[in-house]
Amino acid sequence: MISSLVPASPEALDDAALHRLYAYPAVDRPYVRFNFIAAADGAATSGGLSAGLGNDGDKRIFTVLRRLADVVLVGAGTVRTEGYAGSLVDDDARSWRAEHGLAPHPAVAVISGSLDLDPSGGFFSSAPVRPLVLTSAGAPAARRAALARVADVVDCGMDTAEPSAVLAELGRRGLLRVLCEGGPAVLGGFTRADAVDELCLSISPLLAGGDGPRIAVGDSPEGAVALTLASLLLEDSALYTLYRRAS
Ligand SMILES: NC(=O)c1ccc[n+]([C@@H]2O[C@H](COP(=O)([O-])OP(=O)(O)OC[C@H]3O[C@@H](n4cnc5c(N)ncnc54)[C@H](OP(=O)(O)O)[C@@H]3O)[C@@H](O)[C@H]2O)c1
Repeated sequence: MISSLVPASPEALDDAALHRLYAYPAVDRPYVRFNFIAAADGAATSGGLSAGLGNDGDKRIFTVLRRLADVVLVGAGTVRTEGYAGSLVDDDARSWRAEHGLAPHPAVAVISGSLDLDPSGGFFSSAPVRPLVLTSAGAPAARRAALARVADVVDCGMDTAEPSAVLAELGRRGLLRVLCEGGPAVLGGFTRADAVDELCLSISPLLAGGDGPRIAVGDSPEGAVALTLASLLLEDSALYTLYRRAS
C-alpha cells in the first residue's frame, strides 16, 4: 500500500491517484522528468544493475511514469547494461494511453556518442516503434550507417549530444513529456546543462555498499540546481520522492 506523506493523506493511493500525482504539467516545450532508484546509502546499482534495488512500489510508479510519457529516453550505458528490449508498456497501458490521447506506445530514444549499440540487438530488433538515436557529428560513420537501417539517427552536436539539441529534436517531433530513465552520465550531463525539470527518486531501504555510481556522474555544474519537494510517498520502508526544479 502506497500512502502519501507529502501532501499528507491517510488513504492508500490507487493507480488513478498516482496518475493524477505524476501528471505532466501543460507545456509547450519538452519537459524533462528523470526517474531513478537509489539505495539508502546513495548507490544507484546493486550487483551492477538498478534491478537489485527495486521493490513493488517502485515498479508501480515506474509503470505509471511510462504510461504518462511521450518518449522514454535513455543513455547508451543503460541500454547496454539493463537490456532494454521489446514493449516498454503493457496492453492495458496501450489502451489507457490511446483513451487519453497519447500514442499507444511511447517513442524510444537513446543517447550515444560512440554508437556502440548492436543494430541486431533487442533494443532495435524487437522495438515496438522505430527508435531514435541521438548522437553527434563525430560518431563513427560505419556504425551510423548500420544503425540508420533500424533507427532514426540524429546529430545533436559536434562532439557530444548537447541536451539543448536533444530536447529541440524531441520538441520537433512533438515529444514534450520526456521520461528519462537514466543513467547517471545522462543525468549528470542534463544537470550540467540545467535541463532537468523533475526528479522522481525512489529510495530503497537497503545498504547496497560496493562501488556502484551515484545517480548523477560527470563534470560538476557551475552551481548545484535547487529542487523543491512536490510529493513524498511511502510503502513499507521505501520512499518515493518527486522533486521539481525550484523556480
Ligand atoms: N538506479 C537507477 O535508477 C539507474 C538507472 C539507469 C541506469 N543505472 C545504472 O547505471 C549504470 C550505467 O551508467 P552510465 O552512466 O554508463 O549510463 P548512461 O548514462 O545510460 O550511459 C552513458 C552513455 O550514454 C551516452 N551519453 C551520455 N551522455 C551523452 C552525451 N551528452 N553525448 C553522447 N553520448 C552520451 C554515452 O554512450 P556511448 O558510450 O555509446 O558514447 C555514455 O557512455 C548501469 O550500471 C545501470 O544499471 C541505474
